[in-house]
Amino acid sequence: MMIGEGEEKVITLEEHVSELDEELARVILKIAELSKIVRRELPHRLGKASTWNVSGEEQTKIDVWANELFTEGLMSTGLINQLASEETPEAIENKEGTGAFNITLDPLDGSSNIESNNLFGVICGIYDARHELPAMGRNLRAALTILYGPLTTMVYCARKGVHEFVKGRKERFEDVYALINENLKIPSKGKVYGVPSNREMWLPEFRHFIALLERENYALRYGGSFIGDVNQVLHKGGFFAYPAYLDRPHGKLRLQFEANPMSFIIEGAGGKSSVGRGSILDVKPTALHQRIPVYLGSKELIDQMETLFAKCRDARLYY
Ligand code: AHG
Ligand code: MN
Ligand code: MN
Repeated sequence: MMIGEGEEKVITLEEHVSELDEELARVILKIAELSKIVRRELPHRLGKASTWNVSGEEQTKIDVWANELFTEGLMSTGLINQLASEETPEAIENKEGTGAFNITLDPLDGSSNIESNNLFGVICGIYDARHELPAMGRNLRAALTILYGPLTTMVYCARKGVHEFVKGRKERFEDVYALINENLKIPSKGKVYGVPSNREMWLPEFRHFIALLERENYALRYGGSFIGDVNQVLHKGGFFAYPAYLDRPHGKLRLQFEANPMSFIIEGAGGKSSVGRGSILDVKPTALHQRIPVYLGSKELIDQMETLFAKCRDARLYY
């Protein structure tokens, strides 16, 4: 059912998550509530913060402000044991040592896109508190993204399908998140691919795989925000990578804050993720801010890529 078709009843996020464990539903709804505040605040928090995060990236004012908003808002629920953010060096712990969940947060993914009004958004991972951060993606309880674009949309997966909502206009849907896609499935092959620049520094086997996609007329779609680029692949089918580079073998994206939650959603929608050999969700973490090569998308394409990578490994008999 798509929102606005006829006068069917709107299914709100509140109604949809009522099927979940009550405390998990409260965390998801809290993130949804905070995401609306960020959307309203964006025009007033433009520009750089003149501070740098632990990954050495210059922060924008909204990176810093959204990070504080989400951190304080989530910790105030009493439901969070540990919260780790891309924007802060260490995870923060709930003083009482209680809280059912551990949270990973990229409070604003694609923040370099804000000044040019391109796509950006929030990426969140939710673990049961027994999985101390940094955690394996396979142990995610839920993952959700909020994408700030012409529409504000939310996608969540809590191990029972991938569901998408759009933030309605006040006069019609009282600014709620209304269901627009339930049990969203990624198309098996699709037609778009997203990859970053600097091709001459890619590994030869990855260059070869991208040449195969181009020969099959896949359309290049790369907007510089992980959340926006992967959302296109989720809807249209295809392939996204922020690959290993000859001079950056771990790539750029962070396992905890970007790769795990997004891989959880893509795999929940019937797609696949890969670190080059095997799912990103099975990578054993070694550090909170570690980077990891990311390949994800339609199952057939990831299988094809991993088969090619394996052939290249096997052919290296002499070096
Ligand atoms: P963030 O804004 O949270 O630091 O993330 C930016 C990331 C990711 O969103 C995107 O895929 C990638 O940076 C783009 O990197 P390039 O500018 O190197 O293409
Ligand atoms: Mn990011
Ligand atoms: Mn970010």
